Amino acid sequence: MSVSVVVGAQWGDEAKGKVVDLLAHEADYVVRYAGGSNAGHTVCVNGTTYKFHLIPSGILHPNATAVIADGVVMDLRAFVAEADALQAQGVDLSRLRIGLGVHLTMPYHRLLDELEESQVEGRIGTTKRGIGPTYGDKAWRIGVRVADLLDRDRFAQRVRRVLQRRNPTIQRVYNAKPIDADALIDEFAPYAERIRPYVCDAPHLLMGAVERGKRLLMEGAQGTLLDVDYGTYPYVTSSHPIAAGACLGTGIAPNRLSAIWGVAKAYTTRVGEGPFPTELTDAVGDRIRNRGREYGTTTGRARRVGWLDLVALRYAARVNGFTALAVTLLDVLSGFETLKVCVAYRLDGKTTREFIADAPALARCEPVYEELPGWREEIDGCRTLNELPANARAYLQFIEQAVGAPIRLVSVGPGREQTLWRD
Ligand code: IMP
Repeated sequence: MSVSVVVGAQWGDEAKGKVVDLLAHEADYVVRYAGGSNAGHTVCVNGTTYKFHLIPSGILHPNATAVIADGVVMDLRAFVAEADALQAQGVDLSRLRIGLGVHLTMPYHRLLDELEESQVEGRIGTTKRGIGPTYGDKAWRIGVRVADLLDRDRFAQRVRRVLQRRNPTIQRVYNAKPIDADALIDEFAPYAERIRPYVCDAPHLLMGAVERGKRLLMEGAQGTLLDVDYGTYPYVTSSHPIAAGACLGTGIAPNRLSAIWGVAKAYTTRVGEGPFPTELTDAVGDRIRNRGREYGTTTGRARRVGWLDLVALRYAARVNGFTALAVTLLDVLSGFETLKVCVAYRLDGKTTREFIADAPALARCEPVYEELPGWREEIDGCRTLNELPANARAYLQFIEQAVGAPIRLVSVGPGREQTLWRD
């Protein structure tokens, strides 16, 4: 039995898609457990680039069943666009499964997300994909799920119920045009036929697979510091990207997890608002952004970039219980004379090595840096850890010691072959 989870160790965009793609070779099931089409995973195989937002990237592996489990929220329009694009690229979707309990992100969710983000005060910098309002309805118990969609009357009833609550907000709070329930039902009810072939009871499917000794790979979206409980609230997403979220989102019990991979960039990025102690707003930041092509897969937004924050990474290791680390985009750091890594924060005259998730307090933290020597050589052609310059190896060792989890994989480029493994 093996159940592995791949978790973002920072603020998302850690190149989890590549790590999942590498590990999926050995998986019978690849499972998305949280988030929705706010996520963006890019996988390059033999020169072809595939983009994923909702569908697990493990679908590229002919032996793996790809499951969108109940913790995910699904925008049907986005799903169909993604499914069509992948099918046009020759990807076989017959091994895709979608849980009955998946909540649907509807146009009123996107509208509410956009309206809320258009307010000057309190912006989160969301992806405007309707994620927060969808999880909000779920918690409020007025959400619409895949199981509802399969029965037109039940679907219509649920949509009317939620619009009775949401339309007054749209009209009176935001002064916007309400959503027409009939038109919405007419547009969305036919999606039932498009997704029916994929629908399954995901917890039963997955629990049964675990009991039969199948190998599962759970594909995290976003990152630990965006977790709604353990991230930098309110500048977070609305779900649980952390390893515990894999259990919540799939129904698999915590004691079944056998490997928890943390994926971290060799530096840090963040998209949207919120505190970021090691942020670089100078030419060094521009250089990292350009070399790392740090522009969002989902929104195209330029990402904020900064030095590696080991205080945050150690926190992520503790929250998730990483059994292995994957360090990605190490090649981006070539050419710097020295590299800074944040080893502590200064807050109100005191030094702390504990991460501070409270957003206003984190915003006041000053990073305490240690400087490590950089390396000049480009390393994207390296194929083993031994081929890396000594200073690159020393940089990795420094991370490993600070975080307390073994680095088992280093990525030096987007290709599958640009991966340095340590057994
Ligand atoms: P939401 O998930 O669209 O509600 O956005 C909430 C916060 O999470 C914002 O700061 C987004 O930029 C961030 N976020 C959501 N999804 C991703 C992702 O896939 N990568 C990086 N940041 C994300």
